[in-house]
Amino acid sequence: MRKKILMVCLGNICRSPIAEGIMQAKLLNYGIDDIVDSAGILSYHIGCAPDDRAIGIARKYKVNIDNQLARQLKPADFENFDFIFAMDRSVLESVLKAAQGPKQSGKVHLFLGYAGYSGQADVPDPYYEGGVAFDRVFNLIDDACERIIRKWYPEVLK
Ligand code: 4NP
Repeated sequence: MRKKILMVCLGNICRSPIAEGIMQAKLLNYGIDDIVDSAGILSYHIGCAPDDRAIGIARKYKVNIDNQLARQLKPADFENFDFIFAMDRSVLESVLKAAQGPKQSGKVHLFLGYAGYSGQADVPDPYYEGGVAFDRVFNLIDDACERIIRKWYPEVLK
């Protein structure tokens, strides 16, 4: 069954668009036709393209996020998606508050924790940082996406 994956951060202009783009590119590369989308907690950036620094770092690593548009998390997401990944603990808390009942909250996971990171809980918010932070965040998200794919699809290791 096709998995439906939603990446969630605060603004949906930095971390979750990068996570959507990387996950989509990797799945395509592995020939897996799961569905990936992203959303934010805030309404502030609805309809906006990703941050220029996010677009720039993604381009550097040959991932295209140019055409994404920010949207806010909505109640239907808890029905439409199987896995809802929060980029940090504060986003996790907001997403869990919006979830209704155990079936919906059971779909919500901390992204790095689900990927198997034990020492780091949060993908740091790069919004108020410089370009180096975006590079670090890109590589962290890339590694976590790879780990999740290998967890779900061990055969890609062959
Ligand atoms: P993101 O970064 O959650 O990774 O998209 C942010 C973008 C915007 C804001 C905060 C974080 N903001 O406060 O506007």
